[in-house]
Amino acid sequence: MITSAVRTLATELTGDDLPAYVYDLPALRAHARAVRDALPPGLELYYAAKANPAPPVLRTLAPHVTGYEVASGGEVEHVRAAVPGAPLAFGGPGKTEGELRRALTLGVERFHVESEQELRLLAGAAKDAGLDAVDVLLRVNVPLASDELGGAALAMGGRPSPFGLDPEAVQRCLPLLSGAGSRGPLRLRGIHAHLASGLDAPAQLTVAAAIADWARKLSERHGLDDLTEVNVGGGMGVDYAHPDRRFDWAAYGKGMADLALRHPGRTLRIEPGRALTVYCGWYVTEVLDIKHSGGEAFAVLRGGTHHIRTPATKQHDQPFQVLPMDTTATWTRPWARPAVREEPVTLVGQLCTPKDVLARRVQVPELRAGDRVAFAMAGAYAWNISHHDFLMHPRPGFHYLDT
Ligand SMILES: Cc1ncc(COP(=O)(O)O)c(C=O)c1O
Repeated sequence: MITSAVRTLATELTGDDLPAYVYDLPALRAHARAVRDALPPGLELYYAAKANPAPPVLRTLAPHVTGYEVASGGEVEHVRAAVPGAPLAFGGPGKTEGELRRALTLGVERFHVESEQELRLLAGAAKDAGLDAVDVLLRVNVPLASDELGGAALAMGGRPSPFGLDPEAVQRCLPLLSGAGSRGPLRLRGIHAHLASGLDAPAQLTVAAAIADWARKLSERHGLDDLTEVNVGGGMGVDYAHPDRRFDWAAYGKGMADLALRHPGRTLRIEPGRALTVYCGWYVTEVLDIKHSGGEAFAVLRGGTHHIRTPATKQHDQPFQVLPMDTTATWTRPWARPAVREEPVTLVGQLCTPKDVLARRVQVPELRAGDRVAFAMAGAYAWNISHHDFLMHPRPGFHYLDT
């Protein structure tokens, strides 16, 4: 349901001010606080900045998160500048030597190492920088039983994967890490895994338990007393078809508290992105035209998937709300206002591609040229994953409401 602050701005903006992203920061703050409160106190909550790295979003989350997961040299620089002093965990595949060196200079607190070569590059960079205790978590492709990732929207582990290390590769890495034999500058602090996205709370708990058990066995087998951290990743599910059905943070928090009891002396950490910020953002635009083709209704909107790529990448209908605009009095064109009533309509954007679809055949009571449409769940993986420059349409406005 659209918040009143977003609705007010969405209807006050002029057509030329649209499309616009509108972020409800008080709503984000309340959500982040509720998530934090549902989690056990010892559990560390990192925000995966890739979901939405806008500085006002990062700063709003700051009091409620332990730190930020960053996945490129660009994100390291950006998040360091936006929230100075916040702990960073640098993950992601294909880190370059230059990125690793720069991250060390910036004092990045944790490195999630994805391969044996990356570990060697990091060791060399740390040595050159004169550092003797760089904290490393090995990202592991933890083996899971075949049904454990059943409901995942996007599986990144538990099967052949370019992400992280297979267990055999972990064995090869151990001699390069202090606490496991080496005298080098890298200290093995823990295990990291991000195996899937889109899991509900019971599935997340099953995966978290598998990761924590795997970490414990590794530590016991090799006497790794410094291996005290287990990061079980993000991927908490959100439901675009039912925006009101939210991830069950209360059940998840309870389950993680039980898991922590079974793993005394270990710090558990999570790094969700989407489930934290998706609800706070709205992409607001207006209907430019309505037409019929082959018996189907199409509403052509200002903007499109070059601003909000989410429905194209996920192949879903982006949930939306129609904000009727009574322009009857101001409708100056000498023809009837294009409209559809009580029929399914497909919402498309301004791009010359049939893929520019935001929602398909959705039943609406009424939709007219000049009405506004506010797309919900546009706070994560929306603007920042979109191909902005295609067709050179103007960029949207950005509004961060905070009253
Ligand atoms: C390593 C890692 N951690 C965390 C996340 C955040 O996932 P989500 O936004 O689904 O919670 C991702 C997303 O791809 C990821 O790759």
